Order: sequence, then C-alpha cells, then structure tokens
Amino acid sequence: MKSVVILISGRGSNMEAIVGAGLSAKVAAVISNRADAAGLKFAAQSGIPTQVVDEREFSSRGAFDAALEAVIEQHSPELVALAGFMRVLGRDFVRHYSGRMVNIHPSLLPAFPGLHTHQRALQEGVKLHGCTVHFVTPQVDHGPIIAQAAVPVYAGDTERTLAARVLRQEHRVYPLAIRWFVEGRLAVENGIVRVDGPDARQAILAEE
Ligand code: GRF
Repeated sequence: MKSVVILISGRGSNMEAIVGAGLSAKVAAVISNRADAAGLKFAAQSGIPTQVVDEREFSSRGAFDAALEAVIEQHSPELVALAGFMRVLGRDFVRHYSGRMVNIHPSLLPAFPGLHTHQRALQEGVKLHGCTVHFVTPQVDHGPIIAQAAVPVYAGDTERTLAARVLRQEHRVYPLAIRWFVEGRLAVENGIVRVDGPDARQAILAEE
C-alpha cells in the first residue's frame, strides 16, 4: 500500500477529508510547521503519527526545509500532500519531491495565486470561483493542474460564505486527486495532467 505524508499549518479540514475518504493508501504521518495547528489533534485521535517541525526554531529557509525533509523521509512516502501548509518551500525541497508532491489552492488557478483568494475574487467580481489541486513546482501556486472544482459566486456573498462554498468542494476534489495518484493513474505531459481510466472527471461544476 502506498503511503502519504500530509503537511498542515492550521485547521486541517482537508487533511480530515483525505483521512476520511477511505483511500487505499496509508496516511503515514501528519506534519506541521506549527505546534498549535488544530488539525494535529484530529490526526492524533485518528491514530496517525504527528510531528512538528517548528518554523520558529530555524533561522533560514534552507535549514527548515532540510529538517522537514528529514522528518518526511522517516516515513518514505510515495506522496507528500500539502493541505493548508502556509509556508513557501524552497527550490531544492520542491525539486526533491518533484512529481510526488501536491497542493490544494482555494482558487481556479491560474487566477488568484497567493493569499486572500476569496476576497480578491469578490473584488474582481468573478462569477465562478473554486479550488485547484496541482503538482507543486518551484513557482508558488503554479504546477500542473490535476483537478478543479468551480462554484458560483452570488451577489450577496461575503468572503466567509464564499470560502465555505469553496471549502466543501475542496473536501471532494482533494481526496479524488489523491486517489488517482495512489492508483498510479496520473501522467504529466508538457505540463498537462492526464488521468487514465474511466471515471476521471477532472472538472467538478458544483450546483447550489
Ligand atoms: C484551504 O482553503 C486550502 O485550500 C488553503 O488553506 C485552507 C486550509 O484549510 N491552502 P484546512 O486547514 O484544510 O481546513
């Protein structure tokens, strides 16, 4: 069985969705860069080993990345999944996990990379918003797109209502993308992700 290490920084609801999805993969560890990440509690209660690599204990990005890599390697995972991991990882680290590290981002990339995506979507007046699961490359929020889910943006939306609508889709699309990975169904050609097999819908259009 393939193993997955999940990196979190906070609430960990995407991690919960992955753990709860009944994947034929082992979640070998949940690792956080912050000792106070709420999601660590759920992971521990679920019997998953948790570890903290406290970013405040490192004076440089390189030193933090090296320590994080050493902890991840203890579990020899086939896949590293970033799930609300709020720290930019250096080039060497990203290259080391090239093709075997994925992230979920709360926008329809390439729109709104970076922070405050829901607020920016409302400011721009977009009518569709959503989330993206992608392979991680050195350029933040830019790697090959595995799957996306789109939701409508309504006139009365606030950052909070929109974030909640997107988050429900994150919890659908992230476990799906990870399942494809662990089943060995993802191929990347010229930066485009193809999913082999019959039931592969890389686009989810959520109706509400
Ligand atoms: C999610 O919206 C994710 O897309 C973003 O940060 C948030 C993390 O939420 N990267 P959670 O920790 O998974 O609940």
